[in-house]
Order: sequence, then C-alpha cells, then structure tokens
Amino acid sequence: MIESDATYVVMGLLDADSIAFAIGKTLQSFGAKVIYTVQNERMKKIFFDRSKKLTDEDRADLDIRFCDVTVEEEVETLFNGIEGSISGLVHSIAYSNPKTCLGEEFHTDAIDDLTKGFHISAVSLATVTKFAQPKMTEGGAVVALTFASERAFAFYNWMGVNKAALEAVVRGLARRHGKDNIRVNAVSAGPVFTIAAKHIPGFEELGQTWAKSSPLNWDPNQAQPEVAGAVSFLLGPYSKQITGQTLYVDGGASIIGGELLPHER
Ligand SMILES: NC(=O)c1ccc[n+]([C@@H]2O[C@H](COP(=O)([O-])OP(=O)(O)OC[C@H]3O[C@@H](n4cnc5c(N)ncnc54)[C@H](O)[C@@H]3O)[C@@H](O)[C@H]2O)c1
Repeated sequence: MIESDATYVVMGLLDADSIAFAIGKTLQSFGAKVIYTVQNERMKKIFFDRSKKLTDEDRADLDIRFCDVTVEEEVETLFNGIEGSISGLVHSIAYSNPKTCLGEEFHTDAIDDLTKGFHISAVSLATVTKFAQPKMTEGGAVVALTFASERAFAFYNWMGVNKAALEAVVRGLARRHGKDNIRVNAVSAGPVFTIAAKHIPGFEELGQTWAKSSPLNWDPNQAQPEVAGAVSFLLGPYSKQITGQTLYVDGGASIIGGELLPHER
C-alpha cells in the first residue's frame, strides 16, 4: 500500500487525538517515515502535555517540526530543511474563530476573522503544495481533510464555506500539478470527536445527525483510524489515476435522503 521507504509530511498535529496523528501512525505502520508539523513551539508543548498516553520512547521517535501555514517563509524553510525527497503531504489544518464565524448566527461583520479562517483553512493548501512540489521529485500525492461542504449545517457556518473553498483548491491544484505527476485529493470525513472538534459549537448535534443517517453506524469516538486508512489509500500507489476528488469517509451518511428508518438499522 504505502511504500516502506517513503517519507510523508503530515501537517496539523495538536494532540494524540488529532486526525493528523492517526494518519501518521497508519503511515508508520506501513514502514513509512513521517515528519509531523505543529504550528509553533507552544503547540509542540501542548501536544506533549496533552498526550499523556505516549511513552518516552514514542516521544523520542517523533520528528516534529514547526510551520505556521500562513507565513510563506516558514513553509519554504520547512520544505527546504527536509533532506531527500518526499512522497506526499497531508494537510490536516483548519481554523475559524468560534466566537464570530461559528455559532447560532450565520451573519457576521468580523471580516478579518473570515479572512484569517479562509487563509488557514483553504488558501494554505496551495501554499504548502507549492513549496512541497520540488521535494516530490518522483511525483507524489497531497491529501487535505474536509467536511460535508455541500450541505449547510447548523453552527458550522463559515467553516462550511472554507471547506467548499478547500475542495475547489484541491481541484485547481490537481489540474495544475498533473504535469508534475502530483495528485491532489480530499477526504471528507464524518464528525470525529477530536479534542479540538469538541470545542466547536454544535458538534455534539452533528454526532447525533450522523447517528440517524449513517448506514454503517459511524462512531465519532473511534473514527480516526478509518479516516487515516482512506488518506493512506489516496497517498499510495493504488490510487494512481485519482486526482481532484473528494472521497467521502463518513459511514455513508452523505448519500442518505432523510433519516434511516427503524427497519434499516
Ligand atoms: N474532527 C472532525 O470531525 C473533522 C471532520 C472532517 C474534517 N476535519 C478536518 O480534519 C482536519 C484536522 O482536524 P482535527 O479534528 O484533527 O483537529 P485538530 O485541531 O487536531 O487539527 C487542526 C490543526 O490545525 C492547526 N492549525 C491551525 N492554524 C494553523 C496555522 N496557521 N498553521 C499551522 N497549523 C494550524 C492546529 O494547530 C491543529 O493542529 C481539519 O482540516 C478539520 O477541519 C475534521
């Protein structure tokens, strides 16, 4: 599946529950080398403080680097600092100010917050792909994480807008980097109860929505490995002719009209 001598950059580590961490562990289980990124030194400290389950050996094995994706020089420095080539990149990064861009009211006048959220959640995929491309000397794959942007969910408001933009960025990059033999795709995951996600207003309700509509009984508490498996597929050789796509890993909820009825459970 994943070649054992491959190196992948996995961006967006916050704690051991982060989807990024599950992806990194899955890649490592295939023998790949993983370089994680966190936003800054403070975030690295938060990662280690929160990840009590990690042994000292686990901690010593982690290659964690810094990169704020809104600062182009940091992105350039990150990729210039990697020795040898890489086979792929995972963008597991998003941000929207919960006070102004998520919540009960869709309308907001916080234009700076909207701009920041758009930059981090959508535009940054193009920035990191641009600087990663010279490192993918044999071609490669880029995967971003998105969420059900074709539907309007309560509370999710402007993050939904950012995710729609992210999926459009995926298609633009797929078109641009085909000639470099670089594929660009997104995985649209159902709700995953990461620590960060639990702080999003209305996230509990999203879990309930999925409980009513997933034919495969999507479990938001245990979904990280399922998402990581699909990301690994899109990074590896079995998806060689797939690019510009959004792959739904959501227990099937996105194809259900209405809710599942009792006899369907
Ligand atoms: N948790 C879910 O239910 C769910 C569902 C579908 C998609 N996703 C997406 O998966 C991805 C990972 O989410 P997660 O739930 O693991 O949460 P997470 O908080 O663990 O990951 C988000 C990461 O983005 C990073 N980030 C924010 N601003 C940054 C910046 N300027 N520079 C660099 N990094 C920055 C944060 O530090 C954090 O590490 C996100 O794109 C999210 O939207 C999550």
